[in-house]
Amino acid sequence: MTDLNCVVSEEEIARGVSDLARRISEDYKDRDLVLVGVLNGAFIFLADLARRLTIPHMVDFVRVKSYGRSTESAGVVTLVKDVELPLAGKDVLLVEDIIDTGLSLAFLKEHLAGRGARSLAVCVAVDKPERRVTAVDVDYRCFLIKEGFLVGYGLDCAERYRSLPAIYEIKP
Ligand code: IMP
Ligand code: MG
Repeated sequence: MTDLNCVVSEEEIARGVSDLARRISEDYKDRDLVLVGVLNGAFIFLADLARRLTIPHMVDFVRVKSYGRSTESAGVVTLVKDVELPLAGKDVLLVEDIIDTGLSLAFLKEHLAGRGARSLAVCVAVDKPERRVTAVDVDYRCFLIKEGFLVGYGLDCAERYRSLPAIYEIKP
């Protein structure tokens, strides 16, 4: 029997995302913001965040694949889908569900670095520092969760549980 233990409630998510949207709306008010969501996991967080921003912005997506078992990030990250909007002169905010080892976001920052963006920052729903292997500057985070394998609010375990409205630690 799979055991799900709630670590961030729906109410805490709503409050956290609203606070973050307020900060981002203030920080980017005179900028030219493009949110770049990392598929698949970021789709729910990005949808909530984008709808709470009070400034104009564009939305695009990238998709990466990392090879490994369902509950472990692995070392090899490859690009599956690139950004389609031109980023020259834009203020790009990479939006990700979770940063764990840091390998995906380190790869994406490097990948997007040559696009002529005016700025490139990182926004995550969850920062999980336990297994970080690459230092990545996280400019905006909603929740710091020390450890555990998490599901819900976009986070999956082998493509399951993504649509759960809160964040749970899963214990197989
Ligand atoms: P990183 O490259 O190790 O930072 O991990 C990034 C990706 O690993 C995330 O976008 C998730 O797809 C996956 N991941 C890492 N930790 C978790 C977790 O606790 N639950 C679900 N997915 C995770
Ligand atoms: Mg992901």
